[in-house]
Amino acid sequence: MRSYNIIINICSIIFWDDIDKGALGAKFTVINKCDYTVWPGILANAGSSALDTTGFELPSGGSRSFQAPPNWSGRFWGRTGCNFDPTTQTQQGTCTTGDCGSNQVECNGGGAHPPVTLAEFTIGSGASQDYYDVSLVDGYNVAMIVDAVGGSGECGSTGCIVDLNQQCPNELKFSNGVGCKSACEAFQKDEYCCSGTYASPATCKPTIYSTIFKTACPKSYSYAYDDPTSTFTCTAPHYTITFCPSTTSQKSARVSPPETETETGTGIGDMPMIVNSSSWFSNIFDGVSPKSYSCSISLIATLTILIFLYLQFS
Ligand SMILES: *[C@@H]1O[C@H](CO)[C@@H](O)[C@H](O)[C@H]1NC(C)=O
Ligand SMILES: *[C@@H]1O[C@H](CO)[C@@H](O)[C@H](O)[C@H]1NC(C)=O
Repeated sequence: MRSYNIIINICSIIFWDDIDKGALGAKFTVINKCDYTVWPGILANAGSSALDTTGFELPSGGSRSFQAPPNWSGRFWGRTGCNFDPTTQTQQGTCTTGDCGSNQVECNGGGAHPPVTLAEFTIGSGASQDYYDVSLVDGYNVAMIVDAVGGSGECGSTGCIVDLNQQCPNELKFSNGVGCKSACEAFQKDEYCCSGTYASPATCKPTIYSTIFKTACPKSYSYAYDDPTSTFTCTAPHYTITFCPSTTSQKSARVSPPETETETGTGIGDMPMIVNSSSWFSNIFDGVSPKSYSCSISLIATLTILIFLYLQFS
């Protein structure tokens, strides 16, 4: 009888782990691998609370983490070319790309001015999953990759590795090439904006411009009715948002096969690709997710005790 109690106790520990994961929401870590400062902006959607900050300075090589509650939804982006005056109380200033109109480092509920690369999240709660995507519907300003850490489900890496500013057609170039406008913004035509007679997935098709974006960033949304597989469905305790994920290896990576591209430490190379983390066994050795680590420990403990009991009573 005592053995049954032990098993029930261990099962409840595992069960708690699972409950815990959903109840915690998700952690976000924003990482700047660009060789210049980025000023990330964060905008919570209506009904979601603001995170610790709505905008901050992130020097080259820096990172910062945030905890989001269950059901949180919102977006992250990078502001570039900012000039904030440190002598004024609110550090007044503006940014060349991604400016949120606040005239401050904090965005205070202001959204990003296009062109801007956007990482969009909807965090689940309990049994419901998280959704995320990287959108180029508002254009592009900085290379950005979103990774799920220690998740389960379709937890692919998404975003752009190549610097789309280098490949931007002249007619879409923004401010000396520090951004690349969407064709919708540049030309204001229904066929690019999926509006008017083009306001449905059946009528709004890829264009020569959205194809340029899609080729550079295959896992991203390139226009309003892009392939729904550009949204990822995952349950993860932790997401990373990395600016300029492969600045140094960009040229060589373009001709290298994926298996050589481990230098970023995230397993991502030139082309965005799916990182397969469906196996809890591999998570143990990744050592990146305390959550799945503890769950794995519980599983190992259960198995060990079951074997022990089996040997005792057989
Ligand atoms: C999250 O949203 C779901 C569905 O709307 C709701 O049932 C649940 O109570 C919410 N959870 C939290 C922690 O707010
Ligand atoms: C992940 O690995 C499993 C088992 O090896 C496989 O069935 C699945 O298709 C893989 N998923 C992806 C997204 O590669």
